[in-house]
Formats: sequence, C-alpha cells, structure tokens
Amino acid sequence: MALPFKGDFQAADARPLPPLPFLPFQVPLTVPPVARPVRSRPDTDTYQITMRQADVEIIPGIRTRIWGYDGIFPGPTIKARAGKPVVVVQRNELDVDTSVHLHGGIQSPANDGHPTDVIKPRSSKRFYYPNAAPAAPLWYHDHAHGNEARSVYMGLAGLYLVSDELEDSLRLPSGDYDVPLVITDRLFAPNGSLIFINNDHGLGLRRTILVNGRPQPYFQVAARKYRFRLVNASNDRIYELRLSNGREMVQIASDSGLLPRPVAMSSFELSPAERVEVVIDFSAYRPGTRLILHNSAGEDPLTQTIMRFDVVRTAPDESHIPDTLRPLPPAEKPVTERDFIMGRNPRTHEFEINGKVFDPDRVDVRPRLGSTEIWRIHNATSDARHNFHTHLARFRVLDRDGNPPGPGESGFKDTVAVRPGETVRILPRFLEFTGRYVYHCHILAHAHHMMGTMEVVP
Ligand code: C2O
Ligand code: CU
Repeated sequence: MALPFKGDFQAADARPLPPLPFLPFQVPLTVPPVARPVRSRPDTDTYQITMRQADVEIIPGIRTRIWGYDGIFPGPTIKARAGKPVVVVQRNELDVDTSVHLHGGIQSPANDGHPTDVIKPRSSKRFYYPNAAPAAPLWYHDHAHGNEARSVYMGLAGLYLVSDELEDSLRLPSGDYDVPLVITDRLFAPNGSLIFINNDHGLGLRRTILVNGRPQPYFQVAARKYRFRLVNASNDRIYELRLSNGREMVQIASDSGLLPRPVAMSSFELSPAERVEVVIDFSAYRPGTRLILHNSAGEDPLTQTIMRFDVVRTAPDESHIPDTLRPLPPAEKPVTERDFIMGRNPRTHEFEINGKVFDPDRVDVRPRLGSTEIWRIHNATSDARHNFHTHLARFRVLDRDGNPPGPGESGFKDTVAVRPGETVRILPRFLEFTGRYVYHCHILAHAHHMMGTMEVVP
C-alpha cells in the first residue's frame, strides 16, 4: 500500500523525535458535535457519515492531516436510545479499505464491522444497530484487518452514547454537565503531520496527549457536579488517572453502562478501549481553583498531564448520585470454561492467543446462543501488558488471580486489562445473535495477530 502522505513512515525509519513544542493548557476543551439524523422516524434514526481526510488545527497554529468520520476527530457523537434502532450509512472517501465497528454494541455479524468486512474506497455500507441493551458509553472505530491501528490513529473514532429511562430517572448530571473525554496520544512531525509507528517503540514516542482531539486542554467548569465519560481511544497506551489533589472521583459506570452502585475512587486504570464514567463534584472548590487530571502511568511530565479543570463560577445543581444505580441481575450458570493464553511465539516473536495468530477463516470457539461461559484469560508474556475484548458478548469480571475484582469492575464490561503473569476470569454471555465475531487484545499494535474467532451457534 502506498504511504498516504509525507511524514508517515514505518518502524524501520523510526528515530526519536522531540514532541512539538507547545505549553499545556493553552487551548480550551471542545466537545465533539452530536450527529444529526438525516431521517428520524418513530422507529429508527438514520445517520449518514463520510470517512474522509481533512486538515485540522490540533497543535495551535499548525495544520494536521487526519482521517475523520465527517472529517473530524473525534467523529460526530451518535446519541441513541435503548430500544430505538439506529441506521448509519458509512461512506468511505479515503484511499484505504475501512470497516466500522460499534465497540460494545450488540448487533448481527453483518452489522458488526468484522475485520474482513471492508468498505472499499468510494463505496458505502449501511449498518443497522438495534440498541436493545441498556444505556452505555459505546464508541465506533475502524476495524479493517491490518489497517485498524493506522486508521484509528489517523482519527477514525467517535462516540456512540446510548441512554435509557432508568438512567434518566437517576437525575445524574446532564446536558452541559455531561461531558465526554476521549483520551488519545499522538506523535506529531515538526510540520504537524501525524507520525504512525505501529510497535512498542512508537508508543514511547507518542507523548502528546489529546483530549477530544485537543492537546492537554483546560476546561472551565462551574462549582457543581459533572458527569465525565472517559474513553481511552489510544492505540496502545494505558492510563492511571487521578486528580492532582488526590481527591476521590465517584465512578458510576464502566464499559457496558451503570455500575450497581457508585464507588469512590482516587484513581483508576484505563486500558485501550475501556470506558469509565465518573462524577466529579467541584462544589468543594472556590472559583479560581485549578485541578489537573493526572496520569500516574505516564513516563514523563508530558505524558503525566492529561488536562486541567478550572473552576470559574458557581452554578445551581439539582443533580445527584443515588446509592443504587443499575442493580445487577443474578449471574447465569456457566456451561463451560475455556482458556485463552495470551503469549508470544518463541520463534516468530509474534503475539498470539493459544499459540495461534488470527486467521479469519478459522473458528476458535463455538459458544451456544443464550449460554454463559467462563473464559480464563492468562497473560503469559512477562514483559507485555494486554487486554481482552469480546465483540457481542458483555461479561462480568469474576476474579483476578483468584481475588475479587475491584468495585470499578463490578458491572458489565466488554474489555478487561490483563497484566503480565495475571489470570483474569470473565463470564461472557452470548445473547441475541448467532454467527462469527472476533475477540482480541485491544492494544492495537497487537490486535492484528492477537485475535480469534468465536462462532455463536444455535
Ligand atoms: Cu474496539 Cu474489536 O474492537
Ligand atoms: Cu496485547
């Protein structure tokens, strides 16, 4: 494949580049625009999105070529309602094959954005999303096999937020006080172009942190409660997020929606594709206070700084955090237990699952529709962190090395971090659709090989 533009080079050419010089907190946070349906009927909303290149200002005063849904990064936010289907017609005006996956959504194989189900340049595909599951912070991103890491890096990622009645009834902060924070890291060439290096070396070089596509922005807040929906849309980076003053945030949701009850957390880890929703109450602070969202996992001061909250005014606050959010249904009885060993091939040094690299023509596991299983995921690499994401099946986290998971993992999830040497057991449930779906490590530099196929059978 031809390189799409200058400044994009392969690992062989990689040399350390200093990050583009700019000071943090120079630009305000912006929020991705909400997509407008081209047609809205009582039973379906239809959207039209075009994947295309655009030159945008990310670093102040410099233009950067991106690939964006509708030419923006992050793409337009789709707001969906549980029980009301959405149709999205995706048009590919890029020069590469794309595939659009709704991450965390429960949709049929033909609408799931399988890695091999690509949209060719200058063509379109219609996706049907039933939205049968409860409220959850989902996101859509590229998944074209072998290209996904580059395409997501270039900007093909957007939010898809599902709401429902139960969530409405809780009176959580809403409207202007419900703010998505999509966190990514990038490496910019001096001319502003994005440099993509798809390996662990590349990760170390990507030291410019963006929130909603803005470099280390500031956000002017009122002294009241806010709901933040944090999405790690970075290719490979794992964050450990905390407030600079050490105060607690209240986690209310994870990947697949509301937790059974809110939990106060002073920090939480977010591996690629994971989501966490928190409520931060700024009413404890006087206008003039500044708080930094800090990344303790960052390797240097640049990557340790995510963004800043500036408390600038007071505001009334009718919102609250109830003691009960969404009660968990009783766990289903698992019918079988399976092992997934995430390792490295000693000969080829490729990452693999159960000794195999991804082959779209091979089916690895065949769970039954309607059943629940235990999946035991073991990270057998001593030097690499992985995570594990299942399409279709949402799961609970049963245990980590035999210990109960933290309270932040007490709800349903679709992506779970697995540290070196660790064994995480999850309880996926295979509902709604039969057919072939993938599961994989969501560290995108690994995903190309570290992926398998499950075929849900009747
Ligand atoms: Cu976020 Cu297989 O995807
Ligand atoms: Cu991995």
